[in-house]
Amino acid sequence: MTNETCSEIPLRVNGLTHSPHVDNRRTLLDALREGIAHTGPMKGCDRGQCGACTVLVDGRRVVSCLTLAVAADGSGITTVEGLAQDGELHPLQQAFVQLDGFRCWYCTPGQLCSAVGMLAEHSAGWPSAVTADVSPEAPIAELDSEEVRERLSGNLCRCGAYPSIVRSVLETASRTEAAG
Ligand code: FES
Ligand code: FES
Repeated sequence: MTNETCSEIPLRVNGLTHSPHVDNRRTLLDALREGIAHTGPMKGCDRGQCGACTVLVDGRRVVSCLTLAVAADGSGITTVEGLAQDGELHPLQQAFVQLDGFRCWYCTPGQLCSAVGMLAEHSAGWPSAVTADVSPEAPIAELDSEEVRERLSGNLCRCGAYPSIVRSVLETASRTEAAG
């Protein structure tokens, strides 16, 4: 602690620990972009409405513009910069490239992080608002276009690339399933 409103916190981002001094009122988005130059998470609305700033915190998707940086102290944060591994794009990134899942790309980092989190939620059996059978004994709902649209409804795309975003997510899900 350096003074009453500023803290030095360890931010574990994409496997590396950074120790920026951050104002206790600073959002995780600003701490990432301005504090440690991770500019993948984008600032769209800065008020939780567009999803462009989505990152994963301990594997769960959050809008980083509504998350205080100090609240992420001790957590593992993944930004879009951390999705590729060993020089290989993440399967979702590959699908977005192959199936034109973006236009201007401004929403894309958030779409990708959100989709990674969403696929994990679906695999864990989490239902969505359009899942027909939400009883505890129901099988995991099939991931179809309607499910993907609902589950990614917090991520807006002003270019309207939704059809190819949904196609990319479904393609990734079926490739992952086929790979077993
Ligand atoms: Fe965070 Fe829009 S910038 S939701
Ligand atoms: Fe332009 Fe989504 S690709 S906002």
